[in-house]
Amino acid sequence: SKISYILSIESSCDDTSCAVLKNDQVLSNVIAGQKVHQQYGGVVPELASRAHQSNIVPVVHTALAQANIDKKQLTAIAFTRGPGLMGSLLVGSSFAKSLSLALDIPLIEVHHMQAHILAHFIDEGQEKPEFPFLALTISGGHTQIVKVTDHHEMEVIGTTMDDAVGEAFDKTGKMLGLDYPAGPIIDSLARKGNPHAFSFPIPKAPNLDYSFSGFKTSVLYFIQKQVKENLDFIKENLEDICASVQYTIIEILFQKLEKAVNKTGIKSVAIGGGVSANSGIRERLLSKKEKGWKVFIPPFQYTTDNAAMIGISGYYKFLQKDFAGLEVTATARISM
Ligand code: KG4
Ligand code: ZN
Repeated sequence: SKISYILSIESSCDDTSCAVLKNDQVLSNVIAGQKVHQQYGGVVPELASRAHQSNIVPVVHTALAQANIDKKQLTAIAFTRGPGLMGSLLVGSSFAKSLSLALDIPLIEVHHMQAHILAHFIDEGQEKPEFPFLALTISGGHTQIVKVTDHHEMEVIGTTMDDAVGEAFDKTGKMLGLDYPAGPIIDSLARKGNPHAFSFPIPKAPNLDYSFSGFKTSVLYFIQKQVKENLDFIKENLEDICASVQYTIIEILFQKLEKAVNKTGIKSVAIGGGVSANSGIRERLLSKKEKGWKVFIPPFQYTTDNAAMIGISGYYKFLQKDFAGLEVTATARISM
């Protein structure tokens, strides 16, 4: 059968990434992060789009060089249409459109959250999920339970009513004086702490939906109260606080995920998105194998934002000749 070489671009938030895929295999996946946001404790949209502008050309060149192919060999260009930051998305989408026009090859638009799920289909010799399966997509902007019936048929059956789980990690980390993004730092500190040292309430949310804003507030009040009594409370208990915060977040995530499994009868469960890099979440998911679940954890390098996941999504659309016209626009808010 025919071989396709797809160049893909991801620029929805604060990572500029370009990948080249040969069918479902990754030849290169270059990611340029943006350190500039760290001093602000979060992503500054204006700075993000400017950094994308200066990063995109070198990142694309490096991806082509690492894949060891010439741009004339490319079969199609895939890009993230949304959701994400408008200014950031515009840089990637404009670049992708120009390149598709210049090379006269098809353009493919990709949904960022679908891509986090389809990252499981990047061929690394691992077992891939079979349809239907449930995907827990957890990132800095999203917290969703998705019923996946095909590469392109996905239904959100649960979502957050307020903050995303990544924000819950990052904002509680900020309260603790940790750098941004705090998720991975909390993860490593939590490994040395006692998850039952402190207890935080599980927020109430209807059906399969999530809520994290109440949780964040309860951590804030708890810390303020303790610090009033002991100025060094955070310093003396950092690992235990992180372990307890992470434990509660995992409880929140899995109570609804279990409910989703029971409700749908689907016992194949995959995780995706930046927060799925969390070691506690991975362990908890793996422990569900004893309950008869089939579980899927994406290769670590494809959990946080990357263009390879955009490339694999593009590949499945390419097979169906599902191409975009040049009038396609970046879309900050876009449903699955
Ligand atoms: O998917 P992603 O790279 O970007 C978005 O689309 O948002 O996710 C970024 C989020 C951040 O909130 C970051 O703190 C979180 O993923 N994250 C983690 C871990 N690694 C990244 N959260 C908890 N534990 C981790 N190990
Ligand atoms: Zn993401």
